[in-house]
Amino acid sequence: MQLRIVILAAGRGTRMRSSLPKVLQPLAGRPLLDHVIEVAEAMAPVATHVVYGFGGDQVKDAMAHRDIEWHEQAEQLGTGHAVAQAMPAFHANDVVLVLYGDVPLIELETLQQLVHLAGENALALLTVRLDNPYGYGRIVRDGRGQVQCIVEEKDTTPEERQITEVNTGVMACRAASLGKWISALDKNNSQGEYYLTDVVAHAVADEVPVHAFVTANVEETFGINDKKHLAEAESHYRKRIADRLLSEGVTLVDPTRIDVRGDLTCGQDVYIDANVTFIGDVKLGDGVQVGPNCVIRDTQIEDGTIIYPNCVIEEAHFGPRCLIGPFARVRPQSYFGSGVKLGNFVEIKKSAIAKGSKVNHLSYIGDTTMGQGVNVGAGTITCNYDGMNKHETTIKDDVFIGSGTQLVAPLTIGEGATIGAGSVITHDAPAESLTLERGKQFTVEHWKKPKKKAK
Ligand code: UD1
Ligand code: CA
Repeated sequence: MQLRIVILAAGRGTRMRSSLPKVLQPLAGRPLLDHVIEVAEAMAPVATHVVYGFGGDQVKDAMAHRDIEWHEQAEQLGTGHAVAQAMPAFHANDVVLVLYGDVPLIELETLQQLVHLAGENALALLTVRLDNPYGYGRIVRDGRGQVQCIVEEKDTTPEERQITEVNTGVMACRAASLGKWISALDKNNSQGEYYLTDVVAHAVADEVPVHAFVTANVEETFGINDKKHLAEAESHYRKRIADRLLSEGVTLVDPTRIDVRGDLTCGQDVYIDANVTFIGDVKLGDGVQVGPNCVIRDTQIEDGTIIYPNCVIEEAHFGPRCLIGPFARVRPQSYFGSGVKLGNFVEIKKSAIAKGSKVNHLSYIGDTTMGQGVNVGAGTITCNYDGMNKHETTIKDDVFIGSGTQLVAPLTIGEGATIGAGSVITHDAPAESLTLERGKQFTVEHWKKPKKKAK
């Protein structure tokens, strides 16, 4: 037996009222479809097939990083017609698992159970009981509790509308049977579509056992049709991540106010304050504290470092016990040794700052290699750009740079040098010396302030 997964993603998603195809709408920072493909890949199928249509190459391009067999559904004639587009790629003995591109929270263990239930020759359906089943296909069972068919909302009778067990869209069975039932579908229904859900009635007619697996995990079956659903899914996802972090021992001041758009790995005794967003791959060491309102992307932070409120950090690596912010902005390719301090309104770009150095206030450090024990005074700027090219600044160990200094790169400041405040430094400064550049101060005595003209 070989497993194949087909994901339906051709629909327009009219209810989104967006020019972006529904399956590309973002959940936790990446397309809905990407979430579905991720869980599909975790099933290790022989292939993942995606049926695309509305949005065309836009959907394919957005998934270029995934290994997918694509099947175009030029006209969206229904979910059954969508599966039919991929059918020729399947072998009779394959087990086919159908997923919907707009049901992104589905979990791996559930899919494994479902494929197991499909066994040799059954149709396995994932269903769920909802307090408000509106909009979903209803699971109709006979007096003995055997599933008979699925009826779509728009085709229900008033009695059927009372049924609270609904179709999640996820099903699994042998390709041979699925192909037979799909080719027998018709569009005699209120929407004039080929419904995939009608295969259930065909299975019953063929006396193929239909096993419904009723999941207790309502959230994972959530189907997204409009922006309201999208926002609800985002909060389900947020809760799922927050629960995981809490169970791992992370302190979250408010689990409803943390966003993880990627992978967050935490050591022991990590503390995360309210309203923090993590993007991409972020690793926090033991005892790391992150203050409120920080945005941290693709960054590693070692043990004991504290990020104060309102910092924006991208592609950086902090050694242990650094003190960062508040209001620090750290741009890509920035590396910090242990015990580095960055204060408020400091911007660092593509720089390496070694152990114990401090940039405490209102400074811009770009394209710089800074040694240990350096103290950068307030308002210091590395002038790294001449309008055409970027240039490097090197600041050796134990340098002291006075406030308000401009370092016009390319430039090297020698070890132990002191730069006088307010200097515009354009040449290398020698080690262990005081270098400064400054206009002479003078005073005009008895100077008269101008008077306002009479009108
Ligand atoms: C579908 C199910 C319904 C179930 C619900 C669960 C059918 C007929 N109905 O209804 O029983 O309760 O999902 O969320 O299957 N798609 C295509 N091509 C098409 C039509 C749809 O690829 O021609 C894709 C869509 O992109 C979407 C998925 O199939 O990812 C479901 O389509 P949608 O129109 O949202 O179906 P629902 O009305 O939600
Ligand atoms: Ca749907």
